[in-house]
Amino acid sequence: MSTQNEQPEQANEPLNGAYNPEPNGRNGYHGHQELRQVKDGPAFIAPTPPRYAQIVGWGYHVPSKVITNRDLEQIVDTQDEWIRSRTGIEERHVAGSPQETSATLGIQAARKALDLADIHPNKIDLIICATSSPEHIFPATASLIQDGLGAKNAGAFDLSAACSGFVYGLSMARGHILAGDAEYVLVIGAETLSRIVDWTDRGTCVLFGDGAGAVLVAASDVPGGIMASVLGSDGSGADLLTVPAGGSAMPATLETVSNGSHYIKMDGRAVFRFATRVMAEATTKVLAKAGLTVQDVDLVIPHQANERIIQNSVLKQLQIPSEKVFVNLQKYGNTSTASIPIALCEAIEAGKVKPGDKLVFVGFGAGLTWGACAIEWRTPVEKQEATWWRNTQRQATYQAAAARSMWKRAIRRVYSQVLSTREDEATS
Ligand code: UT7
Repeated sequence: MSTQNEQPEQANEPLNGAYNPEPNGRNGYHGHQELRQVKDGPAFIAPTPPRYAQIVGWGYHVPSKVITNRDLEQIVDTQDEWIRSRTGIEERHVAGSPQETSATLGIQAARKALDLADIHPNKIDLIICATSSPEHIFPATASLIQDGLGAKNAGAFDLSAACSGFVYGLSMARGHILAGDAEYVLVIGAETLSRIVDWTDRGTCVLFGDGAGAVLVAASDVPGGIMASVLGSDGSGADLLTVPAGGSAMPATLETVSNGSHYIKMDGRAVFRFATRVMAEATTKVLAKAGLTVQDVDLVIPHQANERIIQNSVLKQLQIPSEKVFVNLQKYGNTSTASIPIALCEAIEAGKVKPGDKLVFVGFGAGLTWGACAIEWRTPVEKQEATWWRNTQRQATYQAAAARSMWKRAIRRVYSQVLSTREDEATS
């Protein structure tokens, strides 16, 4: 007679849904165990089908204001030719109005990702906002995005790993999904670096730009998706790229403001050397983890910091041909955490991503940090035009979210006023 833990012969025939004979999958994921019942037979513990973390929606948003290299020639002692030849950057988008913030750019990008996946904000379980230019030390920019989306069932937190943040976020999203803790995770990279750049420092102000990119990661039983990730950090290089003041180590004072300690400070050459080394190393490691070789890779989407870093790392060291490496930094500069998701969206628009492709996202940044993800792309990339009715529904969803947020703030204000009046009356 079978006990609970023994699988009867018919065990490979599931009662409900498909049974994957490889419960460990290629992600090394072991799946959950659940109690099943074979027809007319005893109950037994059977593995559930393995879960995979698939990118099912993507979107980006950049501010409309553009600053070209020629514009920068009017601001600092620099030349278009120097910037192009040393970095590859031609122009960058910057937030021109106070209404454009890391959260508002992130909300725009996230809405596009949700619309594309046709997923209602209520379904999101977790929002991770990777950012190097958060709106505040706290609350998290992710919470502001959660409110703007009306994602009322989502947890939200900011992820601080500088320009590697988006790759870190994808790795966290994959972990939550494979653990069974979430069905939908929104990963956003959102930046308004123009607000923390010293516009008198030619060594940094020519490099950075503003923008946001978002992906929706969903649990799936389709094999593939985010297959592996590699994350790294070397805090001994913390001083090489930093905003020294404004945190608990150096709180804001008249002095920190007047000596520019709230702006980005960077040892460019040292960061360049570090980046060239870790980009190649992280790519090699993540491919090995995913059971792939360099030859299997269809497209690398590197952090868009400097064309020469990309050339000296993935192209030269790994011998990956340039047509398999996506570069769009000429248009946006270095948008930190947003650079990889913006580049992903543009690579898809350019027809460079299709189901079955093996992708690598690889980044580096302050910390020092680095990270890479290997992805087997499974989602169709053809754009489905939404009907007029669907668009109207979506608009209504976001308007309702804004109204709900305003209503909650108003109620909270009235409630606290009533309470404090009562307290005053009680103590008088
Ligand atoms: O997301 C991570 C963010 N950080 C990075 O990715 C930064 C990585 N590093 C870099 O991309 C490069 O190091 C830079 C683009 C920042 C600088 O390029 P470089 O080839 O390493 O130049 P350098 O710092 O060695 O400077 C060479 C010269 C210097 O002049 P001298 O001392 O040779 O007379 C600089 O003062 O270029 C000068 N210079 C400039 N000239 C015109 C530095 N910035 C500029 C500029 N315009 N904007």
